[in-house]
Amino acid sequence: MNTISSSLITGTFDTDTCPVPSPEEDPLWYRHAVFYEVLLGSFADSNGDAIGDFKGLESRLDYLAWLGIDCLWLPPFYPSPLQDGGYDVADYMGVDPQYGTMDDFTDLVEAAHERGIRIIIDMVLNHTSDQHPWFQASRSDPQGPYGDFYVWRDTPDDYPDARIIFIDTEKSNWSYDKQRGQYFWHRFFSHQPDLNFDNPSVREAVKNVVRYWCRTGVDGFRLDAIPYLFEENGTNCENLSPTHDFIAELRAMVDDEFPGTLMVAEANQPPREVVDYFGTDARPECHICFHFPIMPRLFAALREESGQGMRQILAELPPLPTGAQWGTFLRNHDELTLEMVTDEERAKMYQWYAPESRMRANIGIRRRLAPLLNGSRRKIELAHALLLALPGSPFLYYGDEIGMGDNIWLKDRDGVRTPMQWDPSPSAGFSTADPKDFRLPLIDAPNWDQRAVNVQESMGRETSLLNWLREALHIRRRYPAFGSGHMNLLSTSNDAVMAFLRRDAQHTILCVYNLAGTPRCVDVTLPGMAGWTSRELAHNSPFPTVKDDDTMQITLTRHGFFWIELLAPDY
Ligand code: GLC
Ligand code: CA
Repeated sequence: MNTISSSLITGTFDTDTCPVPSPEEDPLWYRHAVFYEVLLGSFADSNGDAIGDFKGLESRLDYLAWLGIDCLWLPPFYPSPLQDGGYDVADYMGVDPQYGTMDDFTDLVEAAHERGIRIIIDMVLNHTSDQHPWFQASRSDPQGPYGDFYVWRDTPDDYPDARIIFIDTEKSNWSYDKQRGQYFWHRFFSHQPDLNFDNPSVREAVKNVVRYWCRTGVDGFRLDAIPYLFEENGTNCENLSPTHDFIAELRAMVDDEFPGTLMVAEANQPPREVVDYFGTDARPECHICFHFPIMPRLFAALREESGQGMRQILAELPPLPTGAQWGTFLRNHDELTLEMVTDEERAKMYQWYAPESRMRANIGIRRRLAPLLNGSRRKIELAHALLLALPGSPFLYYGDEIGMGDNIWLKDRDGVRTPMQWDPSPSAGFSTADPKDFRLPLIDAPNWDQRAVNVQESMGRETSLLNWLREALHIRRRYPAFGSGHMNLLSTSNDAVMAFLRRDAQHTILCVYNLAGTPRCVDVTLPGMAGWTSRELAHNSPFPTVKDDDTMQITLTRHGFFWIELLAPDY
């Protein structure tokens, strides 16, 4: 154990948490939850082998509870050759020994639950590693039980309309396997063959994988790369109806056998296509879909000094089925994807946020939040204040809460996956191993290295980003309207100022944001609310009463924002 950091934890945290309620007691918990993605291998190492592990994460749960996290998302920790950060699964039913044992995993789930924190895990159903025994059997014994588990063809001619996703490394979605003498289909890396979902045995096998993990006590799954399960000539092989049928079948299975299990869709698709992954009231699919459409527009808004792009997306989206929720995010372990924006928007995003080619990966930007925003505290706060108030449940990415930097010199997406910076010691409190042995180096750029940017320093400084964010998360927790209230877009007298209401039976909250780098004084129109009084939430300061013409005048500093509670007049 790393004694420096564990004493930090035991000495400092005063958490007031209680165990998670059962799904029956709180079936809609995910609509009020704040999620946190934690890369196990880079978070905290308990045994000095330089690799983060289950026990290490367990030792940091008090920190996460203190911060205000309700649910962790753990990317894959299955045995894997790690050619794709573990998304290349070699065994669905095990844990990679470098992270610990299955008992360590179930202990982690239990310890998290005791602190009121739930855990969802990644479920990579579209493809496996080429090291998976199913693929090994499939390539060596075409007539055997696994012969038809993957998509094999004599020629690489089918599905010509499917795009290539990993354009940096792949030239085709087909690769030739010498052993079998045929081509296999893969939407991602050529070492990641796609499973053949047309085969009922594959569908049964992956359902058993889901059942297996449900029995460990996990609270749900992020369904990785879910649009690509089925293929069909004459289509782009995304979002096909058999894919939706299978997801609905999976949902019905977990609802029936493991009620309350959460399903989160990673469907990087245009707005209309994403919402299909919620399914319908009659036939639900996923509880949460990541909000891919809004994310790049939020970054664009900060540069354009206009909320137009965000407003357009918000206005375009249809009402969601009962219980459905967006998963909002700023950054995650992947590149900031720009696949679903127009060519013009993409060109601008590259120019603004990835001027150097090293900052780009595939069709996106491989940088962390703080460096993307040039370390601007105001912009980082503004981005979070939007993230926490837009309709949806926010997903934070480990390290972004302290404004961690990135390393564009590392390959692929590794630059945003470096070890968590816990303290100013040479190993950053991540491990007792020699930092030279870390799989990914600590960030050491001037001003971003762990002596400047770490949890210990941030906790100890009242005005730090970490303490600000914690406060914001705690305000959000007091007002369920942020998670499940209605949203009404409001008009303002200045395009740089975006305003909306979040509203439920108890509370009405006005969220107002100045996207510009200069101050703004605006009138916000609040239809039918003349005479309502108001109170700013962060400092409990009285704010103006809504005027007779239904407007409220608000002055905002550059990149300033307010969350303001509106109170109906006492007639
Ligand atoms: C998902 C993951 C990404 C991975 C890809 C292929 O998009 O988020 O990290 O590389 O699937 O498995
Ligand atoms: Ca370890």
